[in-house]
Amino acid sequence: MKKNKIFIACDSKNPNKIKEIIKQTQNQKFVIGYKFGLEFLNSRNGRNFIKKLKNKIIFGDYKFCDIPNTCVSAMKSIKDLNFNYVTIHISSGLDALKAVKKVSGRTKLIGVTILTSLNNKALKEIGYSNKVKKIVIEQAKLANKAKLDAIVCSPMEVDIVKKVFKKEIITPGIRLKMRKDDQKRTLTPKQAYQNGSDWLVIGRPITKGNIKNNLKNLINHLK
Ligand code: C5P
Repeated sequence: MKKNKIFIACDSKNPNKIKEIIKQTQNQKFVIGYKFGLEFLNSRNGRNFIKKLKNKIIFGDYKFCDIPNTCVSAMKSIKDLNFNYVTIHISSGLDALKAVKKVSGRTKLIGVTILTSLNNKALKEIGYSNKVKKIVIEQAKLANKAKLDAIVCSPMEVDIVKKVFKKEIITPGIRLKMRKDDQKRTLTPKQAYQNGSDWLVIGRPITKGNIKNNLKNLINHLK
């Protein structure tokens, strides 16, 4: 049977905590990748730590959101880290997406749609007049046009994204319990896989508290 795939969000600035997360999540049941976000990537030891990691699937969650020239330069400046996946906000626009795709080489370029921490009310506050789903569909079309390798979206939007984007779908906003923290558009791991997610991104529900127990709970939930 095909193994479920999970990116563990390594959100800490402490390399010892990251080492602990990696050690405790070595696992035969899942394909595990490690996602490094703004906290670790901007920390004092983050870059060197990642450079020394061997034989892991690694994901640089930079969420580039800038003009094409700056996004391209940023992509080039992390080439030596050999990430398997790197993110760019689709709201950077089609020109930026295409330009970065041209220089991303073997690194898979992931387009990030509307953040899972936002809902329709939050979008209205920002000044968007369309609802989440409408914007996410348009963003998936842009990702397709720019030939991106993957999309990040909420597990709630996998079905609509799949209609226009045929490559990998990666979903954060995963919760086993009612507790959502700062996330708004969440589903359970089981629902996310059922909807067709290729990869789940899970942070706090695994890395907070007892990591081994959290993983066991996840395995039981998926049975
Ligand atoms: O702790 P939690 O499971 O909420 O972590 C989710 C991770 O996924 C965080 O590292 C966050 O930065 C990232 N992410 C997200 N929503 C997106 C894109 C990335 O939560 N749309």
